[in-house]
Amino acid sequence: MRNINTAFKAGLDDTKLEWFSTQLLEWYQINKRHLPWRETRDPFKVWLSEVILQQTRVNQGLPYYLKFTESFNTVNDFASADLDEILKLWQGLGYYSRARNMHQCAKTIVEQYAGEFPNNYVELQKLKGVGKYTAAALASICYNEAVPTIDGNVFRVLSRLFGISDDIAKASSFQIFFAKASELIPAKNPGDFNQAMMEFGATECTPKSPNCEGCMFSTHCFAKQKDMIGILPIKSKNIKIKHRYFNYQIFTFNHQVLVQQREDGDIWAGLFEFDLQETKKSLKSSNFENTKLQYSSEEIVHQLTHQKLHIKFHVYETVDKRTYDNIGKDKEMRSVSINQLSNHAVPKPIESFLNNVFCQ
Ligand code: ADE
Repeated sequence: MRNINTAFKAGLDDTKLEWFSTQLLEWYQINKRHLPWRETRDPFKVWLSEVILQQTRVNQGLPYYLKFTESFNTVNDFASADLDEILKLWQGLGYYSRARNMHQCAKTIVEQYAGEFPNNYVELQKLKGVGKYTAAALASICYNEAVPTIDGNVFRVLSRLFGISDDIAKASSFQIFFAKASELIPAKNPGDFNQAMMEFGATECTPKSPNCEGCMFSTHCFAKQKDMIGILPIKSKNIKIKHRYFNYQIFTFNHQVLVQQREDGDIWAGLFEFDLQETKKSLKSSNFENTKLQYSSEEIVHQLTHQKLHIKFHVYETVDKRTYDNIGKDKEMRSVSINQLSNHAVPKPIESFLNNVFCQ
C-alpha cells in the first residue's frame, strides 16, 4: 500500500508547498487557542508543556502545566525539588517514568549545562527523556531551528494531504513523514509552523469527523479527493494487551495504614501503594491472624496502554499494634496516617479507591 499518491498523482503537489505553509500560519494566527506556553519562549516552560502534552490533551494538560509552573519557576528549582513532590504533581497523568526522566534531565541541565537548555535539536536529544519530538519542539519554538515535530496530529494531516499510506505505527515510517514535513517547515517561524500543524490536526483535521467542508486545503487534499478520509492515516493494531491481577491487602491500625513505594522497572515506579499480591487471577480475601476483614471490593478494571489491570482491594484491621508492627516489619512496609495518604503520589486506581471508599 505504499506510495498510493505517486500512483494516482493527487494531493498537494510540490509547487504548492510554500503556499500551504503560508496559509497554515495565517490560519493559526487567527484560530489558535491562547495558552500560557504559547506566550513564552522560556525553554523550561516549553519543555514542561511539551512533556505534559505528550501525556494528555490540551484541556486536561493545562491545570498540570499551571500547577508545575506555580511550583517551579526555573529548571534549577525543578532540579532541586524532591522526586516525590514531582510525582505528586504528575499524579493522574500516567507514565510516571516521564516525570522521573524530567527530574533527571533537569539535574543534568543544572550540573552539566550550567542551568541552560542546549539550544539545538541534536544536543537536546542527549538529555534524558528528550526524544525527537520534544527536541524538535524546543529547538523550533525556543531557538528558531527549522526542524519538524511529528506527533499523531501531524502524521494525520500529512498522511491525508499527501496520500502517504505508510503505517504510522511502524518506526520506519517516521523518516518518511519527517522528510515531508521538513520540506514544508519555513525557516522563518518554524515554532509557530509546528504548533500550527498540531493545532490544525487537533481541531480541524480530526480523526473521526474532520471539518473538510471548511478546510482551505480540501481541493488539494489527497484523502478528500479520493474519499479516503476514513482510511488515512494507516495505523496497524498488533499490540498485545497483557492482563495482570493485582490484589491489594490494606492493613490498618488506629488510623494508620501500611504502604510501600513501587520499585523501578515496572509500571508506577516511585508511587506509593499497599501490600500487593500479583497473581494469575483475582484472589478472594485471606485470613490473617489477629486481623479482621473490614472490606473487599469488586474487581476494578484499569486500562493502561499495553496492560489491563484487574484490581481488588481487601482492607484488614489489625487487632493490636504489635500485630500491625509485625506485619509492617515482615513486609518491609512503612506506616502512614490515613489522613496523610493524600500527600503521597499514588496510582490512579488507588486514588479513586481512597476517594470513594477508604477516606469517606
Ligand atoms: N501538542 C503538543 N504540543 C503542542 C503545541 N505546542 N501546540 C499544539 N499542539 C500541541
